[in-house]
Amino acid sequence: QAAWLAYNAVDAQRVFPAGTAMPNTVLRLGDSAVEISAADELHRGFEGMLHRILRLDTDAVQASKDHDLIVIGTAKEIAAWRPSLREKKPLQPEGFRLRSVVAGKDSLLIVEGADERGALYGAFTLLRMIAEERPLTQLDDVEAPSAAVRWTNEWDNPDGSIERGYAGRSIFFDKGDVRQDMSRAREYARLLASVGINGCTINNVNADPSLLRPEKLAEIARIAAAFRPYGVKLSLSIAMNSPQAIGRLSTFDPLAPEVAAWWRAKVDEIYKAIPDFGGVIIKADSEGQPGPLQYGRTPAEAANVLARALKPHGGVVLYRGFVYNHHLDWHDPKADRARAGYDNFHTLDGQFDDNVIVQIKNGPIDFQVREPVSPLFAGLHKTNEAIELQITQEYTGQQRHLVFLVPMWKTALDTDMHVSGMRYSMVRDIVTGRTFRRPMGGFVGVANVGLDDYWLGHPLAMANLYGFGRLAWDPVLSSATISDEWTRLTFGNDADVRSVVDTLLLNSWHIYEEYTGPLGVGTLTDIIGVHYGPGIESAERNGWGQWIRADHNGIGMDRTVATGTGYIGQYPAGLAAEYETLKACPDELLLFMHHVPYTYRLHDHKTVIQYIYDTHYAGATAAAVQVPAWETLEGKVPDRTYFEVLRRLNYQAGHSLVWRDAVVNWFHRMSGIADDKGRVGNY
Ligand code: GCU
Repeated sequence: QAAWLAYNAVDAQRVFPAGTAMPNTVLRLGDSAVEISAADELHRGFEGMLHRILRLDTDAVQASKDHDLIVIGTAKEIAAWRPSLREKKPLQPEGFRLRSVVAGKDSLLIVEGADERGALYGAFTLLRMIAEERPLTQLDDVEAPSAAVRWTNEWDNPDGSIERGYAGRSIFFDKGDVRQDMSRAREYARLLASVGINGCTINNVNADPSLLRPEKLAEIARIAAAFRPYGVKLSLSIAMNSPQAIGRLSTFDPLAPEVAAWWRAKVDEIYKAIPDFGGVIIKADSEGQPGPLQYGRTPAEAANVLARALKPHGGVVLYRGFVYNHHLDWHDPKADRARAGYDNFHTLDGQFDDNVIVQIKNGPIDFQVREPVSPLFAGLHKTNEAIELQITQEYTGQQRHLVFLVPMWKTALDTDMHVSGMRYSMVRDIVTGRTFRRPMGGFVGVANVGLDDYWLGHPLAMANLYGFGRLAWDPVLSSATISDEWTRLTFGNDADVRSVVDTLLLNSWHIYEEYTGPLGVGTLTDIIGVHYGPGIESAERNGWGQWIRADHNGIGMDRTVATGTGYIGQYPAGLAAEYETLKACPDELLLFMHHVPYTYRLHDHKTVIQYIYDTHYAGATAAAVQVPAWETLEGKVPDRTYFEVLRRLNYQAGHSLVWRDAVVNWFHRMSGIADDKGRVGNY
């Protein structure tokens, strides 16, 4: 349960080299719940890592008898305490500065937050530095988060089940009620805060309207109270038809005055119960969810009604861009689910209120093992945007397979959209609001943690939750940095452990991709149901539109402007030009963008079919090799974790053979083309 906040013992001499004093006392200047958490955390971390029991003080006079202090507070509090420490340059909201200052006899470690949250994030950062055994001499570190919205979404249902959750039941709900015991909710908020996450949406995007009933809001307020000491704001997914479903109105048309009035009253009621409520998430007109299209209204019209109700309270609306028709006509060669996000939203650019954020999944389909970035990121210039990433491994092995998703997220965030007139237009800068100078934006991660001791099932899957938070804080961080930070915090600084775990993590996405979804075709899994295990055929001949369009001659969706669905034309010209031609299109997205014969040759001249055979064999072999690599860590990581991971890696090695054989045999039968290494079909 401690996850990466393990606070393993470190070598104190490295952190406080000769001549640097280790503090005895933490002086907390503010009384807010968040600052109390921050000081408590310092206490906890010092005890675990340095075996130092810090004295907790709130009385500056008392504390000043001690000369070796950590001082924690907001910039204002610090300046009031010692005017000489006042900063000229103000810190950014939620940011912090960490300093070591020697003043006369005093040796101070100063954790200065722009605000209370900043102080808490500063404390966690200081503890991370200690965990990594970084020397704290001449410390001067100024940081601030990249964007205001850094939230997780939890797809929990009131009955305690979790949609696409793979780690046990809900930490919030049980049998229709909010749990009595909020200890896991509180611990979760602590974990989130430790990586700078400041919001959490507690219920399924396929929202149950009953959660907005007055008696339920009173219960939900207990969850918000558990989050509050860690600066995590609670938010709710709402169903658009709530005014009808629980409000007994005859309509939920967003433009009906009684509907707007109902939402205003409901939002006021929410804020009475939860004064620091963050806002709402809306999934509408998608996969059967009610929405404004039923009344001929647009997503902007619907979002704004909520936005206006939330505005006086400082709340925001996250309106999901995941709007598509799941009854597409398979026989129509122009039909294309990937087009839907852009088609539905880009004409609405500029029509959303300024406290609305359009929440866009990284890819245009649905969290596949490989997708291009959604063209919608570049399609909205006058609208706030957030990127939605999936931490729970729905299509990526459901926490039974090891997949470190940070490198995948980085490929999306680091994509330059080539917006015309801009030198750079990286997705990461678009969603933080920098590119188009938007006031707001951010990062949303669908986490779906459960009651499982390891929160996500697979102990190594926690690197994904950690990585999501770190990227939301600073999307420029590299995958290797994030993986190594997580490994050190979780398992300590042993060089062998670091090298084995980092290698496992950093190779894992590629390995999984090799045996599940080649060349951007999508995850070749069961598309209709559980989204687990091989199910190649299931993508085809249905309305869901995750088609791979494989026949006896070739495979792939033709999304070109010239002959296909025109999807590629949704990207800015520079990027569209790259995807449109076979020559320029990167191999890893080939089958997403083009339909080609199996005999088509990739950039290295290998045929598509041989690539499919080879990568499936290579991927399964690489999955098997993970097992002996992990086995070298027996005795070096906690036993229970060792065996939990080992069990899963063994399973993965076996399941990757199932994947390999299912996929290669299917393509062998389909194409009739022999494997030039003679492996396929010879059993
Ligand atoms: C996926 C997932 C659903 C979920 C949906 C969403 O399609 O399978 O369970 O509801 O995404 O993001 O809304």
